[in-house]
Amino acid sequence: MADLTTNYMGIKLRNPIIVGACNLVEKTENLKRMEQAGAGAIVYRSLFEEQIQLENLQMMENIEEFAERNAEMTSLFPDIEHAGPEEYLHNLAKAKNAVSIPVFGSLNAVNQETWVEYAQEIEKIGVAGIELNLYHLPSDFEIMGKAIVSEQLDVIEAVKKAIKIPVAVKLSPYYTNVLYVINEMDKKGVDAFVLFNKLFQPEIDIDDEKLRFPYNLSHHDENRFPLRIAGLLYGNIKANVCSSRGIFTGEDVITGRCRCSAGCKYLVQK
Ligand SMILES: Cc1cc2nc3c(=O)[nH]c(=O)nc-3n(C[C@H](O)[C@H](O)[C@H](O)COP(=O)(O)O)c2cc1C
Repeated sequence: MADLTTNYMGIKLRNPIIVGACNLVEKTENLKRMEQAGAGAIVYRSLFEEQIQLENLQMMENIEEFAERNAEMTSLFPDIEHAGPEEYLHNLAKAKNAVSIPVFGSLNAVNQETWVEYAQEIEKIGVAGIELNLYHLPSDFEIMGKAIVSEQLDVIEAVKKAIKIPVAVKLSPYYTNVLYVINEMDKKGVDAFVLFNKLFQPEIDIDDEKLRFPYNLSHHDENRFPLRIAGLLYGNIKANVCSSRGIFTGEDVITGRCRCSAGCKYLVQK
C-alpha cells in the first residue's frame, strides 16, 4: 500500500486529508466515524469570541429579567444554554480524547489580548495545534486594507510568542494581493496556511423580507483558486500549505499534490 504519511506543522499525519472546522465535530460519534473513514487529522470548530460576547449579553438580559420578576427567584437560574469559552474548551477536550488522530483547536477572537488569552486556553487542552481563523468581513469605509493586515500580523506575532503548539492561519481569499499577505505572515513564523475559508453570507428571504443564514456550501470548481495559490507558494515560503474549499474527491487531492510537485507539504481540508 502506498505510503501517504505526511508532516504537517511538525506533526506526523497518516495522510494529508484533514477534516476542516465545522459543526460535524460536535458529536463524538461523528469524530469516531471521521477517524474510521481515514482522516489524517480533525480541526475542531472555531471558538468565536463575538458569539460568546453576544451570548453573555443575552445571558445578562435574561438574568436581569428574572431578577426584576421576583426577588425570591435569585436561587433559580434562567434557561442558560451557553456558558462562554469554558463550554467550548470542555467540548474541545472531549473531542481530543475521543480519537487518536491529531485534533486542532480553532479560534476567531476580537482583539489582540483575547486572541492571546483564548489561544493559551486552547493550548492547555493539549491539542496538537491551533488554527487562527482570521475571519474579517469589511464593514468600515474608513479603514485601509493595509491597517487590517497590519493588525492581523500583530495578532499572529503575539500568539506565536505566547504559545508553543504549532499555529496555522486560515485566511479568506479577499485580499488585494494574498501572496504578499501570506509572505508577511510567513515571516512571523506561521507554521501552516489554510487556504481558503468560506465566509457565511446572509440571504434575503423575499417573502417575509428577513435575513436568512443558510449554509454557504462550496461548489466543486472552487478548488481552483486554492490550488493556484498553493502552486505559487510552493518553494517560496517556509510554512506548510493546506487547501480548503471545493476539495471533493480523491482526484482533487491528487491534483493538488501534482501541482505542488511530489513530496511537498501540500494538504487538504474537506
Ligand atoms: C456548517 C459549517 C461550519 C463551519 N464552521 C467553521 C468554523 O467554525 N471555523 C472555520 O474556520 N471554518 C468553518 N467552516 C468553513 C470550513 O472549514 C471550510 O473552510 C469551508 O466550508 C470551505 O471548505 P469546503 O469546500 O470543504 O466546504 C464551516 C463551514 C460550514 C459549512
